[in-house]
Amino acid sequence: MRSRIDLFTFWAVAAVLAGGVAAAAQTADQAWLRNSSEHVRPPVSLEVRTLGKGVLEQSAAQELRLGIVRLIGAPSPIVVGTREEVLKAYPSLVIPVDLEPDAYLLGWAKIGQQGHASTVIVGGNERGILYGAFALLRLSATGANFSDHSLNDHPLRSHPAFPIRWVDEWDNPDGSIERGYAGRSIFFEGGNVREDLAPVAEYARLLASVGINGCNVNNVNAAAQLIDSEHLKQLARVAEAMRPWGVRMALSVDIASPQKIGGLATFDPLDPAVKAWWSAKVEEIYALIPDFAGFTVKADSEGQPGPASYGRTPADAANLLAAALEPHGGIVLYRAFVYNHHADWRDLKADRARAAYDIFHPLDGKFAANVVLQIKEGPIDFQAREPVSPLFAGLRHTSSAMELQVTQEYTGQQRHLVYLAPMWKQVLGFDLRADGKSTPVKEILAGKAFDRPLGGMVAVSGVGRAAWLGSPLALANLYAFGRLAWDPELTPEQIAAEWTEQTLGNDPQVLATVQKMLMQSWPAYESYTGPLGMQTLTDITGSHYGPGIESSENNGWGQWHRADKNGVGMDRSVATGTGYAGQYPPEVAKLYENAATTPDELLLFFHHVPYMYRLHSGKTVIQHIYDSHYEGATQAAQLADEWATLEGRIDPALYADVKARLAYQAGHSIVWRDAIVQYFFKLSGIPDEQGRADHSPGRLEAEDARLTGYKVIDVTPWEDASGGKAVSCDGPSEMEKQRSCSAEWTYSGTPRRSNIAVQYFDLQGGTAHFTLKVNSQPAAAWAADATLPSSHPNGDNSTRHTVRAVDLKPGDVLRVEGTPDGTDPAALDYIEVEPALKAESVRQ
Ligand code: GCU
Repeated sequence: MRSRIDLFTFWAVAAVLAGGVAAAAQTADQAWLRNSSEHVRPPVSLEVRTLGKGVLEQSAAQELRLGIVRLIGAPSPIVVGTREEVLKAYPSLVIPVDLEPDAYLLGWAKIGQQGHASTVIVGGNERGILYGAFALLRLSATGANFSDHSLNDHPLRSHPAFPIRWVDEWDNPDGSIERGYAGRSIFFEGGNVREDLAPVAEYARLLASVGINGCNVNNVNAAAQLIDSEHLKQLARVAEAMRPWGVRMALSVDIASPQKIGGLATFDPLDPAVKAWWSAKVEEIYALIPDFAGFTVKADSEGQPGPASYGRTPADAANLLAAALEPHGGIVLYRAFVYNHHADWRDLKADRARAAYDIFHPLDGKFAANVVLQIKEGPIDFQAREPVSPLFAGLRHTSSAMELQVTQEYTGQQRHLVYLAPMWKQVLGFDLRADGKSTPVKEILAGKAFDRPLGGMVAVSGVGRAAWLGSPLALANLYAFGRLAWDPELTPEQIAAEWTEQTLGNDPQVLATVQKMLMQSWPAYESYTGPLGMQTLTDITGSHYGPGIESSENNGWGQWHRADKNGVGMDRSVATGTGYAGQYPPEVAKLYENAATTPDELLLFFHHVPYMYRLHSGKTVIQHIYDSHYEGATQAAQLADEWATLEGRIDPALYADVKARLAYQAGHSIVWRDAIVQYFFKLSGIPDEQGRADHSPGRLEAEDARLTGYKVIDVTPWEDASGGKAVSCDGPSEMEKQRSCSAEWTYSGTPRRSNIAVQYFDLQGGTAHFTLKVNSQPAAAWAADATLPSSHPNGDNSTRHTVRAVDLKPGDVLRVEGTPDGTDPAALDYIEVEPALKAESVRQ
């Protein structure tokens, strides 16, 4: 019999549902939502009961049923509903009147006529029910003991810290993804929205599981045609796919659209025809997508058109769009990433870091209420370390959201393990001391510090069709973003543990090891890529991946670190520098104004100092640069060793995938180490106290070898190759005449079991092959088949292959044969012979 309150009652069979979802090609279960991949179990009699008919409520119920085997022990039925629905069904239950939107209350209660113990999930709205369901599943996956009924006396009440919890995808209509490292777009292909949007729905499910409520689906360098009538119809399907998971769709727009696709002669934000065009466009959007979230705008930035063309301000442009969106409840996220990328590097007062504050602070108070300024977490561009943007404290009458990157553009592009939650946590907790009071960034974003209605966090996510983020462990960053956007009080360690338990299970050794590895990874990466606030010393005009120290200098992009023979760092003080330090509220400004009070980790961001300047740590700057790179590379090697202890404890395919990635990272951290160390050693002329900078025992340079076919080349930038040189098998005539080249050395060290590392360049456009021979006997053969940036030999593609436990004696001939393929000339930098560790005494 149907109950008097028209309950929908379902009995779940976990295995059936699990099978249904597992059939999808790309699913949320491949990330941390492992519920439906549980082993098939006998049907369980745990009832999930929805009190309403809403779509999100049904999603919540569906999710609970998928994870039902984990919920065994929880009081049944599990009743889910909004506050109103629950009170209507069970008037005697005490439910707080002020349950916030998106919030949930989760507990055990005696309900119904029999006073039956039940699990109750109450949502402040429908989305809240969904988040409550995911919270229950998270509790179960992270070891909650349902039999102790602790939720009886203390129901769990939780609400998000910020209203805006969005991801931005930088996907292009052609299916490529700007700064994406996980394959092609799940949204677009060939200029249109993809037919198959099943992965989009699964992505929304993943996002909902950590409380993310918005997704901007296209590149901030926006293609104007995406808002033409045809594409909007297609995009309505994307919004529909995400809707059951409470994820609202947003779009990046080109501010010149009225001209580019609207046929107007102008896009002047104050022109009445332009205003009318946007109003009509927004009407059209809401007719198709009633829950459309809003627009993100990149204007007057890196070549994008903007209001400056008409002498108008960003506020004029933002308010134009805001006025069109306001009647429909939409918002504008206007990006503060506006700067001159043709700055004069000879001008010691010029400073890109100043730009956002200089441009937007004077406009504070001029933005409409539904405009939010989207501010990158630091003043430059997602570097391994930057100070917090001072603009967060510079806006008292404007809502702000913090933009950060899950996609690891400057932090190893998912080929390096870099868990970013510790960095984000530092930023969120940073106290800007506005008006001399406690004003941590998280309070500003929550709207509490300056009493703003909106605010939050936005992550550039970069998911693609290759396992969401390419690397399995990189997903910890997406997870952590959502969790911190919900609750910035969570610690990175807690989040790491939660993610690991859900993704890899709750074997204590796996948990402890992976948590430790995640926590070590950002400090390690910072140490070997650009410590002391020098920023990521990468190729900033190209790949943003491998080392390219001078690429920052002598150009207008403004990522300068100003290293010269005497010293390094940007003087950003008020007294003698660019004045950037003065953009912070006085207490923080004072801290950064003087080198003596600036924390070591940011010293070179704020000050130009001689290499022999002494840090708070007692070390000189130059010695710190040497030491941190050696330590960082050692830590990267340790990550691989730690992971190796988990063999047999986790899924073998995942184990092998991560093992290969960590081995690569350990090798590439040496490329970084050597590039930066030899660069600063040459520039400063100051020896490394530990004698490592000009001395690599066991290293045999390719250019010093007996070469057959191979030609010596200069590598650019020089620091990306050992000694600046390598050998390449690419002379056109040689390519025709011979199929491979060789480099040969005679070993002159002591007799011992050795590891031989071969450092080569794995270029695009072909799969070169390498063979290592010892006294003509093959010791190893491998293919250079990685997909790395650049088609020239440099630090982007310098790769290490280590052959372990080879017995060597003086006089042995070591020979590397390289066989080019396509445009990959099998270029070689050096080999390095090191004693094998005891553990490696068995030949592998
Ligand atoms: C970085 C990134 C660009 C991107 C830009 C932005 O500079 O390299 O690809 O367009 O940020 O945030 O707009």
